[in-house]
Amino acid sequence: MTAATTTPPAPARPRAAIAAKTLRRDRWRLEPTVTAIILLMFVGYVSWAAWQNADYYARPYLSPLYSPCLASICENVRAGSHIVHPPMVGFIGTWWAVSPALLAIIIPGGIRTTCYYYRKAYYRSIWRSPQACAVAEPHRRYTGETRFPLILQNVHRLFFTLALLINGVLTWDAFESFRWPGGWGMGVGSIVLTLNAALLWLYSVSCHSCRHIIGGRLKHFSRHPVRYKLWGVVSKLNARHMQIAWVSMVWVALTDLYVRLVATGWIPNPRFF
Ligand code: FES
Repeated sequence: MTAATTTPPAPARPRAAIAAKTLRRDRWRLEPTVTAIILLMFVGYVSWAAWQNADYYARPYLSPLYSPCLASICENVRAGSHIVHPPMVGFIGTWWAVSPALLAIIIPGGIRTTCYYYRKAYYRSIWRSPQACAVAEPHRRYTGETRFPLILQNVHRLFFTLALLINGVLTWDAFESFRWPGGWGMGVGSIVLTLNAALLWLYSVSCHSCRHIIGGRLKHFSRHPVRYKLWGVVSKLNARHMQIAWVSMVWVALTDLYVRLVATGWIPNPRFF
């Protein structure tokens, strides 16, 4: 018998030395540029609106940027509105002196910032890590999300859970938008606020964490038919998470703008009945 001969592995080929940032010839800059513009416009508008500390309540509408109302300086609390969130107002009380929106936007801001889709969006469009597939990034080292500060992205599931509470509050606000001073009614703002709450629920339900909570860690779907059914629905929505993220984000800003325009008297407060 002769000893078996083994073929030595082929020497690793060095990577091609390409000086160009990319060899792509398509319009790959377009998507990150448009993404950056819209994201920065949204952040700019929300920052401006949150600092206004005025014109966010036009009975029976409360801007989502100022809800839940967490301080007794809220316009709706001072106006004696039915749209108050008493336990939280009692908790914060009178010591909060700056805009209450700065409290209200913490959780919505947290879930959007740590959202898997938005990470992709701002890593590409703003942080340029990388800007697109097959495009070299400007950073010398890649540490991913394994170190501070990006390791903090792991709190996404916590923000997801807290955002469900916010969705509940905004759903209540949408319900209250049908309660006018003289009784039940419906205005343009009622539709705007209801759509806003519905889109935020869609955004939460289509979240990757939600999909994992519902269908993850199961060895046999056949033993969990209800969860399997729900997982199927959530998975379909999850495939549209990016689109839902954009629409719901823009709609939040438009809802605030609508309430603001009504509150300042720039537009009337039309009511269908
Ligand atoms: S992945 Fe976007 S909200 Fe969770």
